[in-house]
Amino acid sequence: MTETTTAKANIGVVGLAVMGSNLARNLASRDGNTVAVYNRSVEKTNTLLSEHPEAGFIASEKIEDFVASLQKPRTAIIMVQAGKGTDAVIDQLTQLFEPGDIIVDGGNALFTDTIRREKAVRETGINFVGAGISGGEEGALKGPSIMPGGSAEAYETLGPILSSIAAVAEGEPCVTHVGTDGAGHFVKMIHNGIEYADMQLIAEAYDLIRRGTGKSPAEIADVFAEWNRGELESYLIEITAEVLRQVDAKTGKPLVDVIVDQAGSKGTGVWTVQTALNLGVPVSGIAEAVFARGLSSHPEQREAASDLPGPSDAWRVEDHDAFIEDVRLALYASKIVAYSQGFDAIAAGADEHGWNIDLGAVSKIWRGGCIIRAQFLNRIADSYSDVPDLKLLLAAPYFAEAMAGAQDAWRRVVVASAQSGIPAPAFSSSLSYYDGLRADRLPAALVQGQRDFFGAHTYKRVDGEGTFHTLWSGDRSEIQATDSH
Ligand code: 6PG
Repeated sequence: MTETTTAKANIGVVGLAVMGSNLARNLASRDGNTVAVYNRSVEKTNTLLSEHPEAGFIASEKIEDFVASLQKPRTAIIMVQAGKGTDAVIDQLTQLFEPGDIIVDGGNALFTDTIRREKAVRETGINFVGAGISGGEEGALKGPSIMPGGSAEAYETLGPILSSIAAVAEGEPCVTHVGTDGAGHFVKMIHNGIEYADMQLIAEAYDLIRRGTGKSPAEIADVFAEWNRGELESYLIEITAEVLRQVDAKTGKPLVDVIVDQAGSKGTGVWTVQTALNLGVPVSGIAEAVFARGLSSHPEQREAASDLPGPSDAWRVEDHDAFIEDVRLALYASKIVAYSQGFDAIAAGADEHGWNIDLGAVSKIWRGGCIIRAQFLNRIADSYSDVPDLKLLLAAPYFAEAMAGAQDAWRRVVVASAQSGIPAPAFSSSLSYYDGLRADRLPAALVQGQRDFFGAHTYKRVDGEGTFHTLWSGDRSEIQATDSH
């Protein structure tokens, strides 16, 4: 490894695990980039250098040399595991960087950490940019979707570099300056929440089809491959077909049948739901997806419940093709709900944190590179371009029509799930959300009555202004009150 004191690199990457290495290689493959690399343990650096001499990396063993190898304004992308490691690298770089330099955190940081870090780093005159990067290992290498936050000033330098490595969808790079400080990581978090919902919905569709029709995983792979040619076309549907088709070399069984049925998580789905709860946004589809992973991962409870009775009546699917088409429509409608809820959460987060987030631009940068990339993000982009302050994505004309076409099938699938005892929590909660929104009257009126009864929490009346309380423990007459929410 050559140590260098001459600033030759226009961009640096700190953290050379798979995502960092791939991002560094992606950067190095673009015209005009010379990439400096640094990793805490030198082995990873050496492996990268020996496996990819074509990249022309400038590598350093010491972070001081790494910093010295960067041209000004220095720009370094940190690709380390989110958490304490990120803070440690930020501290080191902050001590060595100068005002005007840019530190980018490309990990999956919690957006509130990014807000805190940006504030602290800004005081030194150095720019700090939290950038969500989606697309997994392959995306990092070939073109991810990038969601940078931070200052507009930093984006002037960073934007062209990120545009050069991002995925391209319909001729446009999948990167935009999402908003200030933590906005980029916030949007990446919601992306992951939608990813959870999308994955869970696909898993429910697979389960219903398998148990309802008796088709094998390989046959269901064909169903998903077919779906991928229509309005459901997306990366997650595509890889689902691949996973279902995979045969385990050891046993000859479908791989899906030898994988333990307990889904893990690294936490971004949980953050999405926690954040949405704080914002008062019902992201029920996303929440059910998080809960479903949690339920799957409690084998002791599943064991304790295994003898509990299921439905008394036998359930049979008469027409397999018709059932599969119903499931496809249920998946499509529930997926629209998940995206609609996710965009609601972004809008609410933007309000809360003072970010000016262009929802149409977000939908556009999710069209390529990221895990939730899907054909229908074009329709979301169109909906926001037609009505920029759209109140409810699923009620936009294109999606309202899709819901109208899908809702009967969706109901049949939810009924089938309840009758058969096959769990479909994301399908059914999404349908309840849809019905809740379209209801003329909700039983929330009764909840308000109950709250007023036991806690004098007051209520409004449908027939006039004002706030009221009934004297429940007295003569039950109604009095004017002060709104207590
Ligand atoms: C992406 C993914 C990625 C995600 C992991 C695992 O956009 O590239 O969302 O960031 O963190 O794939 O997530 P879980 O372990 O939480 O499923």
